Amino acid sequence: MCYNNSRVNAHFWGMKNLVCYVRSMRQEDIAQVAKIDREAFSTQLPPPDFHYELRNKVAHYIVACDKAENSSNPVNLEAPSGNNSTGLSARLINLFRRRHFVNNELPPTSAEDITGFAGFWVIANEAHITSIAVREAHRHQSIGELLMISVLDRAKELKAHMATLEVRASNAIAQSLYTKYGFTQVGIRRGYYTDNREDGILMSTQDITSAAFQARLQHLKQAYYRKNAPSQLVC
Ligand SMILES: CC(C)(COP(=O)(O)OP(=O)(O)OC[C@H]1O[C@@H](n2cnc3c(N)ncnc32)[C@H](O)[C@@H]1OP(=O)(O)O)[C@@H](O)C(=O)NCCC(=O)NCCS
Repeated sequence: MCYNNSRVNAHFWGMKNLVCYVRSMRQEDIAQVAKIDREAFSTQLPPPDFHYELRNKVAHYIVACDKAENSSNPVNLEAPSGNNSTGLSARLINLFRRRHFVNNELPPTSAEDITGFAGFWVIANEAHITSIAVREAHRHQSIGELLMISVLDRAKELKAHMATLEVRASNAIAQSLYTKYGFTQVGIRRGYYTDNREDGILMSTQDITSAAFQARLQHLKQAYYRKNAPSQLVC
């Protein structure tokens, strides 16, 4: 493995390996995303209209994908700046390939499994996260975190200064993820959820463009990368 200061240009060879990455959601993803949404939010009616959301100019949806990658098709990976990890794991995480994420140049979707998705609306300077969910069988494998990092990066690119969301009072797992990424409780919406009249906790970040927020995010990205660094990197 070799590192060139802040950047790793690595290729991945092997038998059959999993490549994990985040990209913008497309029309052909709707069936898989709707399935994940139903699995995660079965009591929330009506379900989101993803066809509408993909046409909605203020809405932005991303998906986390797993793709089987074989030896004839190596994948490039860039590490976040300042990373000096040499850790091993079973996946390549393309989160840091911002060029691909933004331009949507990633591999064709045919062999992809979507493992999670997130959506947010940008209105004025606020990115409001409408949903984030990971396929049940893939939870607690850092995919939610990957989606959250991607949302915050994308929101900043879209000139948002703040990220907000509502979460069920009972959803301690999601609240833990949000707290980790700098969200704090700023209010309560009594009886916000119509299925069981559960309270909604309103959470918000500080200015996501601030030096303090970005420093913290960079630190989290580096920790994330160390934890999930690709295995069998050869360069
Ligand atoms: C919330 C959700 C998206 C998290 O995704 P995930 O891929 O399982 O989470 P990750 O593995 O990336 O974990 C990221 C953080 O989430 C929290 N978390 C995840 N699983 C947890 C668990 N079982 N118990 C406590 N905290 C947990 C932790 O803070 C964790 O950080 P850590 O590993 O440093 O402790 C996922 O549980 C989900 O899809 N839930 C159903 C849908 C939902 O409730 N969405 C939120 C609506 S507001």
